[in-house]
Amino acid sequence: MAKQKDKLEGDVYYPSQEILESSRVKDYDCLYKQSIENREGFWEIEAGKLSWYKKWGKVLDDSKKPFYKWFTGGKINIVANAIDRHLVSDTRNKLALIWEGEPGDFRTYSFFALNREVSKFGNVLKALGAKKGDVITIYMPQIPELIIAMLACAKIGTAHSVVYGGFSVEALAERISDAQSNILITADGGFRRGKPTNLKNIANDAMRRSPTIISCVVVKRTGEECFMEGDRDFWYHDLMSMPIASAKCETEVMDAEDPLFILYTSGTTGKPKGLVHTHGGYTVYTSTTFRYVFDYQPEDRWWCAADPGWITGHSYIVYAPMINGATTILYEGAPNYPYPNRWWQMIEKYGINILYTSPTAIRGLMRFGPSWAERHDLSSLRLLGSVGEPINPEAWKWYHEVIGKGKCPIMDTWWQTETGGFMITPLPITPLKPGSATKPFFGIEADVVDEKGNSVKPGEEGTLVIKNPWPGMARTIFRDPDQYIEKYWKQFEKQGWYLAGDSAKVDKDGYFWIIGRNDDVLKVSGYRLGSAEIESALISHPAVTEAAAIGLPDKLKGNIIHATVILAEGISGSVELEDQLKSHVQKEIGPIAKPKFVVFAESLPKTRSGKIMRRVLKAKALGQEAGDLTTLED
Ligand code: WT7
Repeated sequence: MAKQKDKLEGDVYYPSQEILESSRVKDYDCLYKQSIENREGFWEIEAGKLSWYKKWGKVLDDSKKPFYKWFTGGKINIVANAIDRHLVSDTRNKLALIWEGEPGDFRTYSFFALNREVSKFGNVLKALGAKKGDVITIYMPQIPELIIAMLACAKIGTAHSVVYGGFSVEALAERISDAQSNILITADGGFRRGKPTNLKNIANDAMRRSPTIISCVVVKRTGEECFMEGDRDFWYHDLMSMPIASAKCETEVMDAEDPLFILYTSGTTGKPKGLVHTHGGYTVYTSTTFRYVFDYQPEDRWWCAADPGWITGHSYIVYAPMINGATTILYEGAPNYPYPNRWWQMIEKYGINILYTSPTAIRGLMRFGPSWAERHDLSSLRLLGSVGEPINPEAWKWYHEVIGKGKCPIMDTWWQTETGGFMITPLPITPLKPGSATKPFFGIEADVVDEKGNSVKPGEEGTLVIKNPWPGMARTIFRDPDQYIEKYWKQFEKQGWYLAGDSAKVDKDGYFWIIGRNDDVLKVSGYRLGSAEIESALISHPAVTEAAAIGLPDKLKGNIIHATVILAEGISGSVELEDQLKSHVQKEIGPIAKPKFVVFAESLPKTRSGKIMRRVLKAKALGQEAGDLTTLED
């Protein structure tokens, strides 16, 4: 990939001749223009590439804005596209999934084999009473059964709610309780950095706090001892060897707008929001974005090194690759275990062609120097990808040079749990600027505006908005439609725009530069956490009466958590209490939420209306001026 001086401003990397020739899109501007001029026409063509039980009547129904509906009247199931249709083609015997465990064990599944496992487990779930309309909670390590469970839920028409395996008791309990799940699918544990985790024990505590679960299915992964309750808990392998687990299971015919899954994500309130995605629009959007952005070719081996428990994994480990008939890779453990060459070893061993990961993972591996990667043959790589937070140019260049050997374009994809799939992203042919997610995907009109909704000048900071609906958009917040309007559509109600919650800039060339969240949402190692969630975990400790959590910039993790707490009458701060509070948050939410700093204070800076002024705390923690304090109460 040659670096040239051209009309584009700044540090620009142009695609090689080889990439230009192999890419399925040759002219972004032209196709983009068409997709905007006739948005519904564009999506209709893409939807037509999928398998539907019944064709839709209307592409877009906007009669109840902002509750948009897509492909109304259409009948579909995502599994009919991700599995069933491949069974009647050459893809049937191709590998759908290559999985490697952290200890080095591995398993592979062809589409044929995956169908058998998914069908069997679908029947098991039905035998446990699962029916269309239910929400099943999944809390698993990164093992094939996680993917089998997701697909089995979708196949029989139940929505899944996957809770990230790194979350802990309270985070799991409140998600189970919000979803009102009767069935929980979990495992005894998984392997992380050489040690077994104990998911089942955490699940036991969570089920005690949130008693809706009637049946709990447990996969045996680590073999560590765990408590199983007689008439509630069942081993997966026992159920799968019973006659109920027949390998014949019809895929349920779903309405395009029927829910496929709920995925909880952090927002500005203490309670996580359950975003709802559907069978129709999500299938169309994820498969289309994957095909264009990573220019997927049938012989490719694709590795999205995320956890299936987050939207990245839902869309781009499980659904989009499988719909496209791709071979997807799943790895259970840490990138630097037992040594920092673990990922590079995987790429060489499986001949991976596309790697999609996060800036925080790249920075983490960069620390160990280039020699770990240089020992491995990475020549199979054609494209690279990044997601989760802005990628700093230094990490971009390392990724480009050391991993991509200067020949693999980096697709820096900006999107969110709410958007279902890529929104602002390059294509392989796009000239790249390190740190910029470049331009909107087909059918997407993005802009950066001021408070009134006027586009800001090039290079000025503003609020990122999306000006039109798209098929992959979340339809609502589960059981809280008012909040959905309030959070995403209220601020630009007149214009009908979607508020992303990020600040950004656009440069003279129309390239988008994402700056970061402009609400009280933090990104710790690319994971999304709300200040309010961390605060409520702190307040649940008997020594704490009030708490304020903020994110401070960190070279490796993006953000680290700084908490200020006010202690209960008669309790005084100590180093021991500080450690206790950190562990308490870790135990309630999970290791990613553990504060780096806990400081004790007499009071918190608040506005006259009683809102915590986190920006004042942030300035203080960073030793900066606090800025405008006119609204400060005291
Ligand atoms: C937030 C959404 C969608 C997959 C993972 C995150 C930030 C995401 C980028 C990027 C700069 C990014 C934004 C966004 N973000 N991708 N390429 N460049 N920032 O999903 O957990 O819902 O978080 O992640 O701040 O709002 P999520």
